Amino acid sequence: MVSSRVWACLALTGLSAAKYIVPGGRWQDTNGNLVNAHAGCVTVDQESGKFWLFGEYKVEGQPEGGGISVYSSDDLATWEHHGLALAPVVDHPYISTHHIIQRPKVVYSKVSNEYHMWWHADNSTYGWLLQGFARSPNITGPYTFVSATAPLGNWSQDFGIFTDYKDGRSYSLYSNGDRKEGRDVYLTSFNEDVSALEKVVHRFDKYDLEAPTIIQTDKSYYAIMSHKTGYRPNNVVAFRADSLSGPWSQPFMVAPLNTRTFNSQSGFSLRIKGKKKTAYLYLGDQWDSNSLWESRYIWLPIEIDDHKKTLELVWHDVYDLDVNTGEWSPVKGKTYYAAYAKTAGGAFKQEANFASKGTIVTGIYGNDSTVTFEGIEGTGRPQWVSFYYQNTDDMGFGDQPFGQPDRIGGTWQLRRIASVVVNGRMEKVETLYQRDTHKGIILSTPLQLTMDKGKKNTITVGGLWNGFDYKGADLDKIVVYPPE
Ligand SMILES: *[C@@H]1O[C@H](CO)[C@@H](O)[C@H](O)[C@H]1NC(C)=O
Ligand SMILES: *[C@@H]1O[C@H](CO)[C@@H](O)[C@H](O)[C@H]1NC(C)=O
Ligand SMILES: *[C@@H]1O[C@H](CO)[C@@H](O)[C@H](O)[C@H]1NC(C)=O
Ligand SMILES: *[C@@H]1O[C@H](CO)[C@@H](O)[C@H](O)[C@H]1NC(C)=O
Repeated sequence: MVSSRVWACLALTGLSAAKYIVPGGRWQDTNGNLVNAHAGCVTVDQESGKFWLFGEYKVEGQPEGGGISVYSSDDLATWEHHGLALAPVVDHPYISTHHIIQRPKVVYSKVSNEYHMWWHADNSTYGWLLQGFARSPNITGPYTFVSATAPLGNWSQDFGIFTDYKDGRSYSLYSNGDRKEGRDVYLTSFNEDVSALEKVVHRFDKYDLEAPTIIQTDKSYYAIMSHKTGYRPNNVVAFRADSLSGPWSQPFMVAPLNTRTFNSQSGFSLRIKGKKKTAYLYLGDQWDSNSLWESRYIWLPIEIDDHKKTLELVWHDVYDLDVNTGEWSPVKGKTYYAAYAKTAGGAFKQEANFASKGTIVTGIYGNDSTVTFEGIEGTGRPQWVSFYYQNTDDMGFGDQPFGQPDRIGGTWQLRRIASVVVNGRMEKVETLYQRDTHKGIILSTPLQLTMDKGKKNTITVGGLWNGFDYKGADLDKIVVYPPE
């Protein structure tokens, strides 16, 4: 019975049709489950060209130790789950469900003809700061635990691996913790087997950054890292150098100010040498501290200009990446402005010189203070719809809803959750998370919706309970994208 729908789909899209990449969406694997592989890496199988995604497997209600999951893909958009590559082991001294098993990275070792996995290994209070090591002859695992060690005697917290495409050598990249003697990021070479560290190549001294990754062009290396604000996003920065040992440039911002790197944290990056172009991708995490297992992925193209020595993330709601040619292009959608939408109850239009039509809809609350976009064209198939919103809560902390933004020790909360209803069908209310922006900063967040075929659809947005109240964020516009 499955087949008729599957075949209809194949007939419509063709077998080779690439799927879109949608930063911040709820990504589903080929079984319809949420893709659950956070703060990890993508390892490219050099023979088949297949992409393997490894990451932290987050279990609902369990803070740590879910193990490391693995997925495969041919296009970086369609993901097949292969279970846990590294499963937690009961009573194990380093990889039980009570241990921290974070930021895994997997590389192929030519010397031993097997895959080597490294990660940040720790106890639940971050008291050890070690690097874990496991190996497997098979890329999907199961990986066998080897050791958890202190790199050249130092501490190691957020962990990354960089492999230089020019000579195939791999490097370990790690922040050495929060205490005063730490607060550095180390770049240390591995031996050829990628089974032990050799020597420190560079130390990013006292910048107090974390979540490091390096992206390489023909001429440069760019080290990308975030500030330390826990699961709350901040302004990610990059450094540039001609050689790994430096000299490295001053750090600079990689995304428009006050977007908190489009609400994401760095962690990995990917260079795809296509037949026509080389694509550079930022593979960031959009953490959800209230519900870690629901955290999302912000994967974006990176624009690099080696002549100007600049690097910038480029936001697109939906884009199409061809991993064979290395080309990517934004998908074009149809825009519907809140300025022309219909408000109900206490929702109203307010002047906002930063909004698309100088107008934003505010006061969205519960199920009677809503805004309705009318005359929306649908296809009868699932389509991504991006909601452009402003959330001015400024990451309040504790019981202070308007607490200091970006405050160290602040507990970031998802303050606004909207309800989204198509064609007044109240039996199917969709939930839209609207993370903090800043005042005057409009960001977008996507939802997959199925509308009727034709131009008479409506989308109504209200507010859902977020643990504090029923407030929805202010809306600027929505953009409806064609089906995949
Ligand atoms: C983690 O390790 C540190 C250092 O050994 C220790 O002080 C701390 O109590 C440990 N935490 C737990 C939960 O065992
Ligand atoms: C490697 O893993 C795949 C699937 O994950 C499995 O089919 C295959 O038998 C495994 N090979 C070995 C040598 O374990
Ligand atoms: C780690 O390195 C820092 C300097 O980066 C040094 O001050 C500290 O003592 C080292 N810690 C250990 C345990 O070696
Ligand atoms: C409408 O919102 C109120 C809270 O403001 C809630 O109690 C009620 O259940 C909601 N009604 C529907 C139909 O969702």
